[in-house]
Amino acid sequence: MEALNYDQIIKGLKENFRQSIELEIHQQLSSTNTYLSEKALISDTNICFAQSQTAGRGRRGKEWVSPDKSNLYFSIARLFKMDSSALSGLSLAVGLTLAETLQGYCAKKIGVKWPNDLLVDNKKLSGILIEIKSQNDGNCKVVIGIGINIDMTAYEAENIDKPYINLNQCDLYNPLLQNELASNLLNNLLSALDTFTQFGFKAFIDKWNALDVWLNKSVILTLGNKEFEGVHNGIDARGGLILNVDGERSSWTSGEVSLRKSEL
Ligand code: BTN
Repeated sequence: MEALNYDQIIKGLKENFRQSIELEIHQQLSSTNTYLSEKALISDTNICFAQSQTAGRGRRGKEWVSPDKSNLYFSIARLFKMDSSALSGLSLAVGLTLAETLQGYCAKKIGVKWPNDLLVDNKKLSGILIEIKSQNDGNCKVVIGIGINIDMTAYEAENIDKPYINLNQCDLYNPLLQNELASNLLNNLLSALDTFTQFGFKAFIDKWNALDVWLNKSVILTLGNKEFEGVHNGIDARGGLILNVDGERSSWTSGEVSLRKSEL
């Protein structure tokens, strides 16, 4: 795959974003999330890509396999002038925006799975890791990390323990131009972050429900070592999953969902 190129990515950005971001491209980092978490923000929005990561991090302490130039790995750091409780739907807004953007490149249907996976044929295409640091002034520094599988070989992916898929296996309309894809993703993600700041997650609910692969299906929600079985009834205004257990609905803001066996 072509190497990431600073000038090409910047050229593809909308003028207003070009003025307000700081972009860095690295050959290798331990993790783009770790890098931006430790760095002081030097502009509205700091963005960092790496061609490979030596200690890529997934959710729940898992490793994110990050071979050289086979995938996209990047993070966006921004200060949100709101309390961390107002940020609960942010990862869903990001996932939805990623799914909509990537859908423009391929014929296979990309769906979203609560809280923040992108799935194609039930295999994971992309993952999102959001890390929030509350500051003393009441604001939050948020680092949004995104990994998209693009062209990994089976050998490179041998440590991945769940089904995964590359964007290149999703019936692409045209050969991928990685820098164009990077600019397009940034344009759409930065607009979505602005919309989220202004209106919150409610601006995204309907679009999320339209792409949610397990909506109205029987699911198992796992929280720690507890399991709750019910029907997934959609997402609420805070990004919580509404679980209907025998007619009683409750909303969950964290946990892992899996499909109940009978529906697999
Ligand atoms: C998941 O477990 O689904 C989340 C994966 C997030 C991976 C990305 S790759 C870029 C950024 N840097 C990291 O170390 N992790 C995120």
